[in-house]
Amino acid sequence: MKEYNLTTKMRSYQWDELSAEQQELVSIAKEQTERSYCPYSHFHVGAAAKLGNGVVIRGCNQENAAYPSGLCAERSALFAAGAQYPDQPVEMLAIACFTGGHFTKKPGSPCGGCRQVMLETEHRYGGKMQILLYGDEETYVFESAADLLPLIFVSENLQG
Ligand code: THU
Repeated sequence: MKEYNLTTKMRSYQWDELSAEQQELVSIAKEQTERSYCPYSHFHVGAAAKLGNGVVIRGCNQENAAYPSGLCAERSALFAAGAQYPDQPVEMLAIACFTGGHFTKKPGSPCGGCRQVMLETEHRYGGKMQILLYGDEETYVFESAADLLPLIFVSENLQG
């Protein structure tokens, strides 16, 4: 038997420690929580994806009475980015969550499905995507989607 310890690199920032570019993207993700369609969970998630050409693509969660038909904010932004700008890498992705009348104190944590899509996006463009998870008390910054998903599954895995 062998035991492995998998480590992840993550930084926590106070608002005024973030760069102007990061603050701007997080602000868009926060704004996007107002457009979230979440009549079932009342959990508003906003996302903003910044592309290599500087364009920011907005996303937010879209729920449905047939629950599994809904989509998370992160994927709505990343898929919209892929549909509109298939040749542009996604360089930064910001996420914010709002529920019970306020933004969450701790950063929201992307679900497994969104982590997998973030990873595919990163892999597709061959660069790293910085991920900013906003919380009222602190913002987590990951330099790569791979930091959010150890033992990744990407196209090479399909070759065996
Ligand atoms: N949600 C997201 O938009 N992103 C995540 O990473 C986690 C969950 C949404 C899905 C659903 O509309 C609501 O939050 C509650 O799960």
